[in-house]
Amino acid sequence: MTYQNLRDFLTALDNAGELKHITQEVSPYLEISKFTDAESKSRDGGKGLFFENVKDSEFPVVTNIFGSMKRICMAFGVKNLDEPAHRIREFIEFNPPKNFKDILNILPMAISVPKFFPRMMRSETPPCQEVVMTGNQIDLSKLPVLHCWPKDAGRFITLPIVFTKSLETGRRNAGMYRMQIFDKNTTGMHWHIHKDGSHYYTEYCRAKKRMPVAVAIGADPATTFSATAPMPRGVDELLLAGFLRKKPVMLTKCLTIDMEVPAEAEFVIEGYVDPGELRREGPFGDHTGYYSLADDYPVFHVTAITHRRNPIYSATLVGKPPMEDCYLAKATERFFLPLLQTVFPEIRDYWLPWEGVFHNIVAVSIDKEYPGHAQKIMSGLWGQGQMSFCKAIVIADKEVNVRNPDEIIEKLLHSFDISSDITITKGVLDVLDHSSPFPNYGHKIGIDLTKRCKGEPPRTPPPAPKRRGGNNNDSHLLSGEGLGERSTGVIAFRNLFPEYPESINRISALSVEKTANRGGKDFAEKIFAASSLKPFNIIILYDKDIDIENNSLILWKLFNNTDPGRDMIFQGHQLVIDACKKGLMDGHEREWPDDLSFEA
Ligand SMILES: Cc1cc2nc3c(=O)[nH]c(=O)nc-3n(C[C@H](O)[C@H](O)[C@H](O)COP(=O)(O)O)c2cc1C
Repeated sequence: MTYQNLRDFLTALDNAGELKHITQEVSPYLEISKFTDAESKSRDGGKGLFFENVKDSEFPVVTNIFGSMKRICMAFGVKNLDEPAHRIREFIEFNPPKNFKDILNILPMAISVPKFFPRMMRSETPPCQEVVMTGNQIDLSKLPVLHCWPKDAGRFITLPIVFTKSLETGRRNAGMYRMQIFDKNTTGMHWHIHKDGSHYYTEYCRAKKRMPVAVAIGADPATTFSATAPMPRGVDELLLAGFLRKKPVMLTKCLTIDMEVPAEAEFVIEGYVDPGELRREGPFGDHTGYYSLADDYPVFHVTAITHRRNPIYSATLVGKPPMEDCYLAKATERFFLPLLQTVFPEIRDYWLPWEGVFHNIVAVSIDKEYPGHAQKIMSGLWGQGQMSFCKAIVIADKEVNVRNPDEIIEKLLHSFDISSDITITKGVLDVLDHSSPFPNYGHKIGIDLTKRCKGEPPRTPPPAPKRRGGNNNDSHLLSGEGLGERSTGVIAFRNLFPEYPESINRISALSVEKTANRGGKDFAEKIFAASSLKPFNIIILYDKDIDIENNSLILWKLFNNTDPGRDMIFQGHQLVIDACKKGLMDGHEREWPDDLSFEA
């Protein structure tokens, strides 16, 4: 079953017992987000939330409606997320690409079957225009827009489908970019520099022309999802929505600008962005689990707000994973595998762990055939659409189930060679990356866990742990080296895999306290000199307030906080990774964002 609009989906969620109705009055200022955070973090993503009675607003709010495996599957009317991928794969097998151009066009070919093309609704009053406000009637404060986290710069529309068109080709784009409410008729437009909305904006800036922009809130689930999907530039996301719904998205013309929007949306905000007009936007509690830093972004001027009679406002709360957006990203991961495989047929599977917040790490399995094959895939992925933002790529052989972390850990412990399996390079980083000394640009790491083949030099594993020296007795590691003394700043130690005392690689976590003149490299020097730590060849540093017994937390910190070029310090067979917060003591001059918390 697929849905015509948001309310059909909500009815289905209600019928399945997947929607919790909150009848008490709740404030859009932090209160709805506290409810949503607790629900998302509860077992299996909890339930969708329907806030019936929102303080200072006549409109109800829904959150977390995609936030579980069950609900994200319901959103597409499937039993599991591989089903749409099978449909895409079937199409590709039926219409195999004949040349490289075909490969690049496979996505539009696969989904642009005419029956999925969006269509215009023939109705004098489309549902999304049942109520129309223009001129002085426009007042964004009437919408129950959430103030999500205490240090957010204000209220943000978090689930908007932003429609733009290329000035040069006229092609439509739908992207999801948060919007900070500035006043009753302006907002920020937070399209990142790499995104299609930003690219089209650049076209308007070059031509010095006003750019029409329309925003739909609360469309059918396939349309909302499609705005988040990394479609190639120039391919209409509404085709993907039509393909997923198995029926076209019905559109209607905007009233004040030349743009079409989903006719069944709950709200539509019409307006424009003027070339060159920028305003400080953020900070905002982001899906990385940190506040994304304030920066200058275009200003969106509202020319009309239209909505259904009795509209339902749809929002999401992003934050430290797992949150609702993890399930949207999971859908993207599964749906795009067959498409990735048209370009890289040797890829068997891939997995983006939630702790990596999508742009920090991907694990990929390949059918390796020749020397350098793993490195070829790394380079290829770093040049591929939004995959290019990925900071770390781990490549394993096809026999490894990369969706099972235990199998990756097994390889890391027993065969990974820190001296020859690591490729460090530089390139594009996600705007939300905070680990690099430079915004949007920095180091990347590729880790090759594949078996060596003929033509590749063999691995040179370090000596076995016992022969590396040290006392090999975890409880005494910090004593006798001056490491455990308070003045040294080393506070606690954890052997991460005590069950494997003989593994080639032994990995430990150290809790440390940095000071203005004691950075990651200073700790690394001490560690390299400490004979008791010699059995451990990979030692990861964490700030003292991080609970190093919490596996998910330490992975999240490792992936988010590490710049692979600066923060991985090698000596002999040992590697120290600094996963702490960075500052001037580490040569990091950029502002470092705060973790999200409701206790501000
Ligand atoms: C809830 C949510 C909020 C998002 N917010 C932003 C944002 O503020 N800015 C941005 O550039 N991308 C944001 N994204 C990611 C984009 O929607 C995604 O990269 C999309 O593919 C962009 O489309 P485009 O390539 O057509 O521009 C968000 C995604 C989700 C799921």
